[in-house]
Amino acid sequence: MVIQEAVSGRTIADAVSPANLQQEALDHVWVHSAAWTDVAEREGMRIFNRGEGIRLWDIHGREYLDGISGLWVVNAGHGRAEIGEVMGEQAKQLAYVSAAAYTSEPTVRLAHTLSEITPGDLSRVYFCSGGSEAVETAIKIAKQVQAMRGFPRRYKVIARRGSYHGMTQGAMSLTAMRNEAYFGPFMYGVSHVPHPNQYRSDFGLEGEAADIMAAKYVEQEIENQGPETVACVIGEPISSAAGVHVPSATYWRMLREICDRHGVLLIADEVINGFGRTGKMFACEHFGIVPDIMTIAKGLTSGYAPMGAAIVRDAVFETFKEQEKVAMGHLLTFGGHPVCAVAAIKNLEIFQQESLVDRAAEMGAYLKSRLEELRSHPTVGDVRGAGLLCAIELVKSKENKTKWGKESPFAKRTGELLMERGFITRTWEVMHFAPPLVVTKDEIDRMVTIADEALTIAEGEHAAEIEP
Ligand SMILES: Cc1ncc(COP(=O)(O)O)c(C=O)c1O
Repeated sequence: MVIQEAVSGRTIADAVSPANLQQEALDHVWVHSAAWTDVAEREGMRIFNRGEGIRLWDIHGREYLDGISGLWVVNAGHGRAEIGEVMGEQAKQLAYVSAAAYTSEPTVRLAHTLSEITPGDLSRVYFCSGGSEAVETAIKIAKQVQAMRGFPRRYKVIARRGSYHGMTQGAMSLTAMRNEAYFGPFMYGVSHVPHPNQYRSDFGLEGEAADIMAAKYVEQEIENQGPETVACVIGEPISSAAGVHVPSATYWRMLREICDRHGVLLIADEVINGFGRTGKMFACEHFGIVPDIMTIAKGLTSGYAPMGAAIVRDAVFETFKEQEKVAMGHLLTFGGHPVCAVAAIKNLEIFQQESLVDRAAEMGAYLKSRLEELRSHPTVGDVRGAGLLCAIELVKSKENKTKWGKESPFAKRTGELLMERGFITRTWEVMHFAPPLVVTKDEIDRMVTIADEALTIAEGEHAAEIEP
């Protein structure tokens, strides 16, 4: 039966043809962060309808390599029918219970699993629907715990420059590239300190010395703000947004010690880092630290369902147990959704069956060795990463590490050339390489070959701007 669309008069059957779908997409879908003109310039939106492993197909049957796992999400790879099956079964049996005062069987099983696989005594899970909500939840927990412990003035949050923690108002306040003109004023009491960066240190230092200075800066900021006013410090263990700089273990150990000394809670945002992305189940494990609160999302379900969580250590939850009549001032209708929970459980079973974390470490080492070969390009200033969270930094001059600048035509052109060749990734100041953890060596070779070709062409077109 053909269903008549009330407003446009077009039919759903019409809309299924590629041309019409594209028109419908342009007419009705609000893409989240691309400018409208960019979308329209591509003669319509790219619409995908199938995925398998690290490959995606669009409605024209064109094949792409998903070099960024959607958005650092699809860790277990596309096309996992078994996850869809358990979600369907769960939806038939019980689709929803309120998280206000109840929970569901799969949610309990998932909370148990997470308490087992997260580092140290992170063991109490507050479920939500994504990364921004996880961050909102974490900072609210930090503030409330400080107040309940007798420090109501500890409301300030220290984040790092270059960081990304989400786009809801609170999470965006912590995000470095927040847009003051549209959305200010932001959450009061947030400050941003330098990010560890061994390639281009804010302090003109090299190697671990750069990280040590960045850690000292955090302490200085706590002291400048007044420790009695600071609730928490938040950072991604290995920040993707800040350019995939991998800090030394010393940096994170110093932050742990500084926070403890000043009564400040430490939040590790593992929304991208978690679930094998960096070659460990959680990136904190590289550094041997246990944060007070960890935020997770994305790889938790590998994108098969929208789910995130803030997980706290025993001592944090103890504060709530001691004051038994005080609840967290927070409630999310979809927190701990049973259908999302079974997706996460199945996803984690796949991780175990296919040793995906070890695989990420092994394939990541191979990817990095192949990316090292791209250093022969005049514009590849640095190659870095951990596991399958890798990037190359694009510069105008290797000697001076001159940046191309934000939204540079060189980066844009390189991105277009990659896309034309079927390699989906993000190319700004750095080009990201973060495929699903099931990637094969052949697929890595293909991604590197495409990147090599794209850089060669873009460098030829922009030769006049490249400094020898
Ligand atoms: C480190 C980090 N935290 C939080 C978020 C926000 O997650 P979401 O987009 O699911 O709200 C992101 C998103 O990319 C992220 O990278």
